[in-house]
Amino acid sequence: MKGFSELRFAGPKLVFVVFLILFLLMFLPFHVFQSETVAYTQRVYSNIYQKAVDALLTTLSIGYFQWNAMFNAFETENQEFIDSMFEEILNDISPVRSINVIERPKEFSAADDYELFVANEELYAYANVRDSLADNTTERFVVMISIDKRLVLESLSMADRISFSNKGDELFAYGLHVDIKGYDLYNWLVFHAFASGLIGVLLMMEVLAIAFSRYHHTQGLQTTVYMWELQDPYTTYHSRNVAKIAEILGKRLKLRKKKLVELVNGAKLHDIGKMGISTSILRKRGPLNEIEWEVMLSHPERGKRLLEQFKYLGKYIPYAYMHHEREDGSGYPLGLKGEEIPFEVKILAVADVFEALTANRPYREAYSFPQAAEMMTEMPLDQELVSALIEILPELETELCGRNPEKCWERS
Ligand SMILES: [Fe+2]
Ligand SMILES: [Fe+2]
Repeated sequence: MKGFSELRFAGPKLVFVVFLILFLLMFLPFHVFQSETVAYTQRVYSNIYQKAVDALLTTLSIGYFQWNAMFNAFETENQEFIDSMFEEILNDISPVRSINVIERPKEFSAADDYELFVANEELYAYANVRDSLADNTTERFVVMISIDKRLVLESLSMADRISFSNKGDELFAYGLHVDIKGYDLYNWLVFHAFASGLIGVLLMMEVLAIAFSRYHHTQGLQTTVYMWELQDPYTTYHSRNVAKIAEILGKRLKLRKKKLVELVNGAKLHDIGKMGISTSILRKRGPLNEIEWEVMLSHPERGKRLLEQFKYLGKYIPYAYMHHEREDGSGYPLGLKGEEIPFEVKILAVADVFEALTANRPYREAYSFPQAAEMMTEMPLDQELVSALIEILPELETELCGRNPEKCWERS
């Protein structure tokens, strides 16, 4: 994967991790939602349940056990009356499961109308028997009522959310143990989590496809340019050398990493428009006639048109189209001046001229690096950039291998 820096952010491991994170993140709100639902259900339903049981016991107490007739029956031990009343209660008040007369337990005070308690996860109540004005209370005997806890729950329509269970985790009214259901969203959540993970991965693949496409278009075109340059010994490695000079110059000028990468790629493609020009013109030893010059000067326009064919390579068009523009407007094809030329393109122009001057030509020997730099101080180039170039001459000697391209590329 060396050199694939544009793609490294989306390796298979990262794709898997993104999927996993999105998958798990989808469960987080579900978990919180369920916990809150359970806690809310426990709190609200427990209060309602207690109120309902209290209402039941109050009804029984006032309706049957604070009544002269019942009080007298207890005092006179009129079992027949008591049994008939108990039977009526069992028939009419469904949550009452059983009802008996027992001797007063020590813990039950005569002061209270009734007292609820739980034994073996079942709900019971003691009730005092009093006369109608509640002035007198039976001393020896009280009533013990067993309440069907499930029937109370069903009468309140809570049975679909709560079930009593000896092993239940949640404490309910009177310390009873229950299981509480959250909302049954599990299947929906699993589907949603998969869908989100999948969408995340698909998005990542789309980004990856664009990155691949950009990388391969750029690489493919650059390779085509190298191959084409190899046909002419005088221009072999021109684009690569220009890119190297531009890179060193760009670093010196502290270009941001993204811009530097763009500059290097743009430099490798800057003369791509020359590929459409006949070699009889490109390699002509003598001076070019007017028509030949016109064709030669068209290579920026040709480069622009070629790069426009590639969707993701638009950012390299200015490098191909404007690298022959000059500070004083004497360049081509647009005759732009100074600030009208993008800064990175000016760097490319300096690198391009320097490379051309320090390369052998059929009609002249190469200039030395200092000679070339000296000549460039008289040219309509950005002179601040030329000064920066002069400062990096020693580094260029090393990086360009003393203008021996074979040695240089062998090394890399
Ligand atoms: Fe050019
Ligand atoms: Fe060039």
